[in-house]
Amino acid sequence: MRLRDKVAIVTGGGVGIGRAYCLGLAKEGARVVVADIQDKEAEKVAAEIKEAFAVPVDVTSPEKTQAMANAAVKKYGRIDVLVNNAGLYTALKKRPFMEIDPEEWDRVMAVNVKGLFLCVKAVYPVMKQQKKGKIINISSGTVLGGSPYFLHYVSSKAGVIGFTRSLSREVGADHICVNAITPGLTISGSNQGGVLTPEQREDRRKRRCFQRDQVPQDLVGTVIFLASDDSDFITGQTINVDGGTWMY
Ligand SMILES: NC(=O)c1ccc[n+]([C@@H]2O[C@H](COP(=O)([O-])OP(=O)(O)OC[C@H]3O[C@@H](n4cnc5c(N)ncnc54)[C@H](O)[C@@H]3O)[C@@H](O)[C@H]2O)c1
Repeated sequence: MRLRDKVAIVTGGGVGIGRAYCLGLAKEGARVVVADIQDKEAEKVAAEIKEAFAVPVDVTSPEKTQAMANAAVKKYGRIDVLVNNAGLYTALKKRPFMEIDPEEWDRVMAVNVKGLFLCVKAVYPVMKQQKKGKIINISSGTVLGGSPYFLHYVSSKAGVIGFTRSLSREVGADHICVNAITPGLTISGSNQGGVLTPEQREDRRKRRCFQRDQVPQDLVGTVIFLASDDSDFITGQTINVDGGTWMY
């Protein structure tokens, strides 16, 4: 129970990998705020956890992200952990950059980068007052390999790493840790159909030291560690969790 009594907000917690983070944090004793634009899915996840509630949020909205933080404080009195997991990923089609609409580019940046900025702005005053906090930003291993046909997505996830480094320097004096994770391709439910052919999936397995599919549970331990007091002297870092595909 490494997170007993801590309060954790997980954006995009209603489905996929975010759901696994919610369940994993709860298992370690955290009270969980399941925040998602898919409010019905978020409610289902919250119902699976003893101490949790769901908040509908669009991370691109300053008002909605502020309401999310307010709801967490109203219900539990504090915010210890923010997992910035919401992202546009499975909703996107891979295509050559010349075929990406500028509007789609803007939307990806709005959710995957600005969304983090707005969520942090909403929780920071609370963490600052507490003189402690943990911000965990979900980037992607696509940044390490420079995956083609996903230029907006990969650029946005590279932005998450710069955001993490720069923010960690600004909030160090408040004892707030800011770290990122680069997950490898993870079979998360939402991306099972259509995103990869069986041959591509086999190719990903072969590129790992551990030659199997990556699943959401493979990421949960790292999130728990970064949320816990065990990582209090780690900040500004990006931890790669991909079964040993990339080494840097
Ligand atoms: N699955 C992978 O292989 C993989 C690999 C690396 C990184 N990631 C990242 O991990 C995170 C979760 O991935 P996933 O596979 O579970 O994807 P997913 O598409 O299944 O989940 C994304 C979640 O974000 C939510 N969301 C989208 N737009 C939102 C908005 N505007 N406001 C609030 N919530 C919003 C969705 O409702 C959903 O719950 C994403 O940030 C993704 O980029 C995934």
